[in-house]
Amino acid sequence: MVNLYVCKICGEPYIGGEAPDDCPFCGAPKNYLKSVEEFKELWKTDLNEEEKKDMQETINLELNATAYYQKVSDSQEKYSKQNRLFKQLARTEKEHLEIAAKFLKMEIPELKGEEPKESIEKDLERTKELEKGAVEKYKQFLENAENENVKNFYVALIHAEQGHQDIASKELGE
Ligand SMILES: [Fe+2]
Ligand SMILES: [Fe+2]
Repeated sequence: MVNLYVCKICGEPYIGGEAPDDCPFCGAPKNYLKSVEEFKELWKTDLNEEEKKDMQETINLELNATAYYQKVSDSQEKYSKQNRLFKQLARTEKEHLEIAAKFLKMEIPELKGEEPKESIEKDLERTKELEKGAVEKYKQFLENAENENVKNFYVALIHAEQGHQDIASKELGE
């Protein structure tokens, strides 16, 4: 039987028999994919000063990752494996960026980030490094957070960025 799911983290809808293991849009784990009736806008909440500061840093990380992965995707042959991989990475990071901006009730900043490296292997290495750094930061931000919505956001992000680190390692044959 077909169902409509809505991600409690990003709010994107998904139609399918079963909920996928991870949200196809933001990479949140399956337990966040719920029926539409259960959906509440995660970002409609007030953050304390520390949460705001951490959210701004989240925006900076996601902004760089979105722009960088998009450029790596564009540097690869259209529809090739790495073109597809980096397209999906960019899409997920853009979703994170948009949610973080909504938490801060601000417009999405203009995309800017680092340039692709000399080879796709170097870009995969850099991806691993960026994702590892993000996971460490988000674990810290999760610990700092008092707001339950903010905590759920970081739990989902840690899961998604860990997956990105794993797929980059896999591509490198590790
Ligand atoms: Fe999602
Ligand atoms: Fe992200």
